[in-house]
Amino acid sequence: MSLPGGLRIDVVVPAAGQGRRMGSAVPKQYLRVGGHAILELTLGRLLGLPFVGRVVVALAAGDGRFGDLRCAADPRVVAVTGGAERADSVRAALGEVSTEWVLVHDAARPFVRPGDIEALVEACLGDGGVGGILAVPIHDTVKEGEGGRIARTRPRDGLFRAQTPQMFRAAALREALSGGVAVTDEASALEARGERPLLVMGSELNFKVTTSDDLRLAQALWDAGMLS
Ligand code: C5P
Repeated sequence: MSLPGGLRIDVVVPAAGQGRRMGSAVPKQYLRVGGHAILELTLGRLLGLPFVGRVVVALAAGDGRFGDLRCAADPRVVAVTGGAERADSVRAALGEVSTEWVLVHDAARPFVRPGDIEALVEACLGDGGVGGILAVPIHDTVKEGEGGRIARTRPRDGLFRAQTPQMFRAAALREALSGGVAVTDEASALEARGERPLLVMGSELNFKVTTSDDLRLAQALWDAGMLS
């Protein structure tokens, strides 16, 4: 899909996390699925979209692995040093973004479908607001726990799990992140300023590879030909 007027959109990929929940010495973005580093798979998906301009990757200080990836040599890929929190990494990468809109996508979501990214971009451009995110509805009953027991049950109607990419006007995102807010996704920073980003339906296959179970699931789906 090309965009009207040859519009380009830069992408920020925060990849400076340590992946502690994986319990591996290798950060999760460098673990392998189907013989490929997860970050390589993620960047490959993004670089395959014709409207993507730069892909700005935020790396941990002293990252010694990125240069070994094939996609590191792509002229559209720019590496910057990330920060202590995800928001710091995104803020650093935004410094290299020169397009009006920006997509932010987790390094650890290698299976996002190009069609879903296109649907997000079309929805955000058509809406003309601050932007939007891919999300999936919650089908499980949601419990709030306290001390290992159920404290209360939350109505699941209208609840979604936020995914990435998340697409925003770059200037609005820069401003929203400028105050050093502690957020786990970019939309939260804009919500805190009263904005109401769009919810665009994503896919359960766009899961974030976070735990060793996720890694096994990713490999099984890959072996079944569902992710390649
Ligand atoms: O920790 P979490 O799974 O939410 O991380 C999501 C993404 O943010 C990952 O791709 C991770 O590498 C990145 N991240 C980062 N800088 C940090 C922490 C996480 O770029 N300080």
